[in-house]
Amino acid sequence: DKGNHRHFMEKEIYEQAEVVSHTLSHYIDFAEGRVKADAAQIDFAALDRLAMSACGTAYYAGLIGKYWFERVARLPVEIDVASEFRYREMPLPGRMAALFISQSGETADTLASLRYCRDSGLTIGTVVNVRGSTMARESDAVFPTLAGPEIGVASTKAFTCQLSVLAALALIAGRTRGTLSAEEEARSVQALVEVPRLFNEILTAIQPQIETLSRELSRFKDVLYLGRGTNFPLALEGALKLKEISYIHAEGYAAGELKHGPIALIDETMPVIVIAPHDRYYEKTVSNMQEVAARGGQIILITDEKGAAATTLDTMATIVLPVVNEIVAPILFALPVQLIAYHTAVFMGTDVDQPRNLAKSVTVE
Ligand code: F6R
Repeated sequence: DKGNHRHFMEKEIYEQAEVVSHTLSHYIDFAEGRVKADAAQIDFAALDRLAMSACGTAYYAGLIGKYWFERVARLPVEIDVASEFRYREMPLPGRMAALFISQSGETADTLASLRYCRDSGLTIGTVVNVRGSTMARESDAVFPTLAGPEIGVASTKAFTCQLSVLAALALIAGRTRGTLSAEEEARSVQALVEVPRLFNEILTAIQPQIETLSRELSRFKDVLYLGRGTNFPLALEGALKLKEISYIHAEGYAAGELKHGPIALIDETMPVIVIAPHDRYYEKTVSNMQEVAARGGQIILITDEKGAAATTLDTMATIVLPVVNEIVAPILFALPVQLIAYHTAVFMGTDVDQPRNLAKSVTVE
């Protein structure tokens, strides 16, 4: 049932406040303002490495999670797409656990990677949406995303729930490894607690502007997405979402890689979407935007209030979100990325919920 939404994808985008709040309550004690350390089921303090693997959107969630585990818990993370992880023949040392991420819990390559690690004797954790799935059954520790059934083929609410779980697990790992101060834990938890309310505020605030922008975007054949730090994987996700439902060719790049090749493509026919809140990388990303502008590229800037105030660059559109703690930024900045893909696809007239050639659950290799 789509309720009063035109597509399941739209309904699922608007459900995120509710399902993320539900998911977070599994990992966070809201009353105490602390993470629930016993929700971890993996002894992060005993590890000196974490291997992660997943496919598609779930892989991008894992890439963002890698930044969190490494910064907050000082735990090095190895991550690969599952279809390569399987073939990499990575040496699996003893003090390592493996974490898989999957909405369906049935993706063939992710499952094969899980079995490879399990056969090598690693402890297996899975962030999974379908509780009774094969991956959930074959894991030592199951970290549920409580997104409810996701019908739209393009993943939206499962992604933000995966991010919420990974952020909470990184905080738990930070606590148990002694790398996270009580103050930083309290600040981060408080930021996570505010996410559901901010979801609804942001959606209401940016929707009309994104609809107008998407009408313009639907005229282009190619789009480049750029980001730095945790916004780099989000740029990859933005490009994936745009290509899979609007069929516009899109590429995601780390902003710093621009000058190593893709800058050759920049002209007025390829808009560049830059995800750049006013974080520690902001100034560097602004200089990348100047390089784009100097070559006639049109910029769509997704930033926060501080970032918007700090630039005088001419843009095709500037989408402004509130200033938030850096651990929740990629969760909230997923919203404009999802809405841009959704509205552009609606203007293109594609089958948003059932894009051509795609299946919701990929059980072949
Ligand atoms: C993109 C998308 C896919 C899935 C991927 C993994 O919108 O939905 O890229 O993320 O096929 O699927 P799961 O999470 O079920 O393993």
